[in-house]
Amino acid sequence: MGKIAIVIHGGAGPDSAFIKQNKERYEEGLKQAVVSGYQVLKTGGTAVAAVEKAVQSLEDNGIFNAGHGCALNNKGEVEMDAAIMNGENLKAGAVSMVRNVKNPISLARLVLEKTNHVLISGYGAMEFAADENVPLETDSYFISEHSRDEYLEERNQQSIQEMLRKRIHGTVGAVAVDAKGNVASATSTGGIPNSLPGRIGDSCIIGSGCFANNNTCAVSSTGDGEFIMTSVVAHSVSMSTEIMKGSLQEICDHVIHERNKGTEGQMGVIAVNANADIGISFNSPRMHRAWIDADGKLGGSIY
Ligand code: GLY
Repeated sequence: MGKIAIVIHGGAGPDSAFIKQNKERYEEGLKQAVVSGYQVLKTGGTAVAAVEKAVQSLEDNGIFNAGHGCALNNKGEVEMDAAIMNGENLKAGAVSMVRNVKNPISLARLVLEKTNHVLISGYGAMEFAADENVPLETDSYFISEHSRDEYLEERNQQSIQEMLRKRIHGTVGAVAVDAKGNVASATSTGGIPNSLPGRIGDSCIIGSGCFANNNTCAVSSTGDGEFIMTSVVAHSVSMSTEIMKGSLQEICDHVIHERNKGTEGQMGVIAVNANADIGISFNSPRMHRAWIDADGKLGGSIY
């Protein structure tokens, strides 16, 4: 049996009073999610199943910007993106602009497993969700007290352009390697608060917010989606392992701090390879994260 490991994130970006006040709740949510994914690996489950499980837990939590705790767009509505990728066969599934789907990451996995497509959006994704009988929730389920307060407070005080410039964001993600040496990644988000309706971020874009290849590594990105997309961050980490020497940690640091040096974008990545090496890097004031490494050691941090 090969080494197993899992890393998760709950978003990278600026710090805030809300994050400070809720530090323990964030830490507990991260721990619960990483342990739930690790249990899948520990009982012989696949890396794909483990990253789905960990991200489901984060989507269900309500404090992270995904699923139950989604950010609201400038119409006060929720639009969610998610992607999952299997490093064994380079198959991926993603959904964009979905509403009412309790766990967008599970819908993305169904796209991976049951269709010949990679990314389905909007009404088509919703029809697919209905055909597959995935659990749905009412609009209000996705709107937490915090995201509603944040939306109303900001709407009352600032123009839409000012709000967009504040770059408040979050995303959740997981990467894992299973006992067979297969890696997988998963990413899910409610997007950027107060964004224009119809805006799609990096999380559902394979190669930007999510990438996995057994020969390189699995990566999940978080942060300013527009910069992550144009820098193709997740694939950059993967490709850099093919052309650079150094540990996975050094390669993640290179992509975030050297390759993207000077960017205005705040971003972070988590990565794992088939040898269960871990890489975590970010250029923002904080990135919520947790991991269980090849020795079974649990760790985590926000700053
Ligand atoms: N990184 C999440 C987003 O920009 O939508």
